[in-house]
Amino acid sequence: MDRLREQHFRTRARIIEGNGPARQHALGKLTARERLALLLDDGVFVELDLYRRGKEGAQEATDGVITGSGEIGGRRVFVYAQDFTIAGGSLGEAHAAKIHKLMDLALDAGAPLIGLNDSGGARIQEGVMALDGYGGIFYRNVQASGVIPQISVILGPCAGGAAYSPALTDFTFMVRDTAQMYLTGPDVVEAVSGKRVTHAELGGAEVHGSRSGVATFVHDDEVGCLDEVRYLVSLLPANNLERPPSTGATGAVSDERPRLAELVPVEPNLPYDMRHVIAEIVDDGEFLELHEDWAGNVLCVFARIDGEVVGVVANQPLVLAGVLDAAAAQKAARFVRFCDAFGIPLVTLVDVPGFLPGVEQEHAGIIRHGAKLLYAYCEATVPRVQVILRKAYGGAYIVMDSRSIGADLSLAWPTNEIAVMGATGAVNVIHRKELAAAADPDRLREDLTDAYTRRLMHPHYSAERGLVDDVIDPVRTRSAIASGLAMIRTKRRVPPRRKHGNGPL
Ligand code: HXC
Repeated sequence: MDRLREQHFRTRARIIEGNGPARQHALGKLTARERLALLLDDGVFVELDLYRRGKEGAQEATDGVITGSGEIGGRRVFVYAQDFTIAGGSLGEAHAAKIHKLMDLALDAGAPLIGLNDSGGARIQEGVMALDGYGGIFYRNVQASGVIPQISVILGPCAGGAAYSPALTDFTFMVRDTAQMYLTGPDVVEAVSGKRVTHAELGGAEVHGSRSGVATFVHDDEVGCLDEVRYLVSLLPANNLERPPSTGATGAVSDERPRLAELVPVEPNLPYDMRHVIAEIVDDGEFLELHEDWAGNVLCVFARIDGEVVGVVANQPLVLAGVLDAAAAQKAARFVRFCDAFGIPLVTLVDVPGFLPGVEQEHAGIIRHGAKLLYAYCEATVPRVQVILRKAYGGAYIVMDSRSIGADLSLAWPTNEIAVMGATGAVNVIHRKELAAAADPDRLREDLTDAYTRRLMHPHYSAERGLVDDVIDPVRTRSAIASGLAMIRTKRRVPPRRKHGNGPL
């Protein structure tokens, strides 16, 4: 028995030791086990299929992927970590079967799934069996969507069809310099188009974090990246039937924030950083921002208010004056859908001049993309609070969680301007003839604009008509949101029975 045990320990240690860290470190990357150690709480990793071997191409135990379950902040998660030192982390039949098994367990246990990706893609030696393995992952990604949170972390190559698994999950993290995602690599791009591009130019973290919107979070190094994954997990429920983790009331319901009266200029066209407003409203000024460098004209953040997790959607007057465009609508729509699927209440901060006009936006399908945001809000059954800080014009007012599309509570600052369009624009349209005939059109325009503002855009206009539930002192914004959310925390609304809707994609 002793001899067998000793042999067993030696084999096990050899597999765990793997091919050593030298090759990975030389590429500026950590090993799969080093990554797991950073991601998970100490000493609670249950590993599965350590001895599993692949077929052609990688006869080594684990078959190039470590799978198992551990904890983050004492809460269960399921993780796979691809090991680039074994056949480039490529995915063959056994490798895929291990991931399938893990995904099935995660779904059964109702706990988040995290994939640490570092792979050369389909294992070429295994032919179509590798493709079948990917298909099985995609299928499970979709079955698990909206049931357990799914997080993809890209820490090396993630090429070809492999990139579709992260695209099907809820969040994608990428690390600068070492992570790449693309469907066809630089060689194929050059063969097809004659254009030479580097891996980073084609699908590096920078590109996906700021241009394509594929990466939700971008980090300088793996340590910071994995730490942020832990933070994200701390804000999410384990599954769609569980409440998001609460840290207990913080007294927000009676908290006044004097800075809120100074942060936002009264003049509707002056810019300011909405992040500062969010920091005043949420607990400890702390929030996690998604897509920081993509579609910056809208902000999507997770935070806590009075200890309860919320999703905040906010126009950002600092970027493109906070206008909504196709990218902003897509960004916010996906976020609203995630929050709704996982029972996270929505807080929408509105200061929006409208949708971005122009040939480029129309041709890019702003109608289709804007409709995604509209659809996402209309469908959302979680508690929803809207706060209108200044402008809320036209269709953008409706889309930004107005009462008409299902907000439970609409609050407005005394600086609110809710209208079909800005006063000057409105006067130019409805008084075109008088203005053209006037001796002093500028003076007349000014007078008419004043009259229009007084009649149709005064701070209580919408509240008098029930579209706004209360006009609040800005310093009370945090407390009013906290009280409002407490009021509707037990909201229960059952969506209509149907197979599924047919929202714009
Ligand atoms: C088998 C692979 C492999 C693969 C890498 N390796 N990718 N083995 N199948 N797909 C092996 C290499 O042969 C090498 O083995 C080791 O992994 C490390 O690879 P290197 O090339 O030395 O590393 P590096 O220079 O860092 O380059 C990484 C790379 C490159 C850019 C990922 O390996 C590469 O281009 N690989 C092929 C990528 C690819 O075409 N994959 C198929 C995509 S199609 P040794 O023995 O030398 O250590 C696809 C379809 C999916 O994925 C469809 C799903 C629907």
